[in-house]
Amino acid sequence: MANSEKKQWDSSQLRKYDFSLEQIPRLHYKDPKIDELIKQNLPVLITDSNIVKPAIEKWTLEYLERNLGSAGHTVYVSRNHKFKFYDDKKILNKNNPKGVEFSPPTKRAEMKVFEFMKRLREWKRGEKRVYLQQILNSTVGPAIVEDYMNFDWRYVGEKKNKHNWGELTSNLLFIGMEGNVTPCHYDEQQNFFRPNPRCILFAPDQFENLYPHPVHHPHDRQSMVDFDRPDYTKFPKFKNVKGYETIVEPGDVLYIPIYWWHHVESLMRGGPTITVNFWYKAGPTSLEYPLRDHQKVSIMRNVEKMLLEVLQDPKEVGPLLRAMVLGRYNE
Ligand code: FUM
Ligand code: FE
Repeated sequence: MANSEKKQWDSSQLRKYDFSLEQIPRLHYKDPKIDELIKQNLPVLITDSNIVKPAIEKWTLEYLERNLGSAGHTVYVSRNHKFKFYDDKKILNKNNPKGVEFSPPTKRAEMKVFEFMKRLREWKRGEKRVYLQQILNSTVGPAIVEDYMNFDWRYVGEKKNKHNWGELTSNLLFIGMEGNVTPCHYDEQQNFFRPNPRCILFAPDQFENLYPHPVHHPHDRQSMVDFDRPDYTKFPKFKNVKGYETIVEPGDVLYIPIYWWHHVESLMRGGPTITVNFWYKAGPTSLEYPLRDHQKVSIMRNVEKMLLEVLQDPKEVGPLLRAMVLGRYNE
């Protein structure tokens, strides 16, 4: 099937969750309201854009297999449908005695594209799942580089300039199996994202309801709550969480503002998904007072990092913060 054909789907292909979800606004790519939303750090689904048209029209599994190149590609392997990100640099090992004891929930492997595609095509229920997440860099083949050059850089460049984002950090190509899930997390970058998985987003003010891991933990920026089996005793405020969702169709691009939480799932029984994202660094920040919600998250991260650095022991951070707050600021 051509990658550009709209896939038919129904709600039985969506995983079921207990929280309430509103739809993310969908606006035609020429609609000036898009800029109003971006300016307010709000998400928007930009429809009918041709930002990654060459990818939508040409990037079938067969085409990618032929053209992705002979280098090894980054593939995550998981025992279940979840691919929760972790930062290797924060894991305890002999080179990192201050790291956290941690057994990674997925394995990162380097695979040739044919090997990955074979696993994708021949996968059977109960087997380990795979998710290719490869940066579009000089290791990919020339046809892919040419398609990449033909992305609509003018449109994304205009958005970058208008909204004062920093440099493009990377474009990541994702090839996922149906039903794969990237669990809820936030990034410290602006993200343009296309197409076809279901995206569930939460605003930065949902910080308390989503219980992020501490910043020194390998799962920094990821929610501690398992959406499939929320532990309401440990995470009672997760009951109050309120989100937004959308299904990104071919031709659509989703703007995920910096510090917005996102949970991304490929539809169940929807076939593999091929997506590309554009990550832009945050622009030079001028703090606005009173602080906006996403800036509060950034401040909290900085306070946490500073305390970790000066106290030299993560176990001391909680008691210090509790001593500061309990009986004084918890009224
Ligand atoms: O699985 C995904 O497509 C994740 C994307 C993201 O976190 O930006
Ligand atoms: Fe992300």
